[in-house]
Amino acid sequence: MKDNSRRGFMGKAFGAVAGVGAVASLYAMKKSWDPLPSVKAAGFTTLDMSAYKENELVVEKWRGKPIFVLKQSKEMLDTEGENMSKVTGKTTATIDKTRLIKVGDAHYMVTIGLCTHLGCIPGYNPDKKSFLCACHGGMYDDTGMVTKSPPPRGLDIPPFKIKGNTLVLGEEGPEYKKMKETGITL
Ligand code: FES
Repeated sequence: MKDNSRRGFMGKAFGAVAGVGAVASLYAMKKSWDPLPSVKAAGFTTLDMSAYKENELVVEKWRGKPIFVLKQSKEMLDTEGENMSKVTGKTTATIDKTRLIKVGDAHYMVTIGLCTHLGCIPGYNPDKKSFLCACHGGMYDDTGMVTKSPPPRGLDIPPFKIKGNTLVLGEEGPEYKKMKETGITL
């Protein structure tokens, strides 16, 4: 009887220890399954838009992709209507800003920096204010609109949300949703 109760106590104690161990290892396993806080945060990239200079291309990174940020100068904004007419064949005096993102008083081209033909990274020429994709000669203007084939469309715009003077990539704000609805980006 005494032995039995002793075995019973030992069994319970062992069971309790094993239970704690199992919970601890389950916890450790769960921890390793959960994404780290920094990985979760890596889905978003916050850009301080006041840091960019006019007609100076900066390549940022979002979810492993290059992101082109090009702040527009007054001259660039003034010539965009002309570029548009070259592409569409229509004469237009109005400045086409539909692909641009307005943050504060400034306009920015913010696109995924991968050619929509086969995914090469186009280079920017600040004098010509245009992008050339060296792979097959595709070209884009300084708003990311395609000006020479083979790319089938302009540079894609990543999901974004305007928050004060910053742009959060990875969040879909109303301006981005409108661009998607109107077919400006995929
Ligand atoms: S990948 Fe850019 S033109 Fe073909």
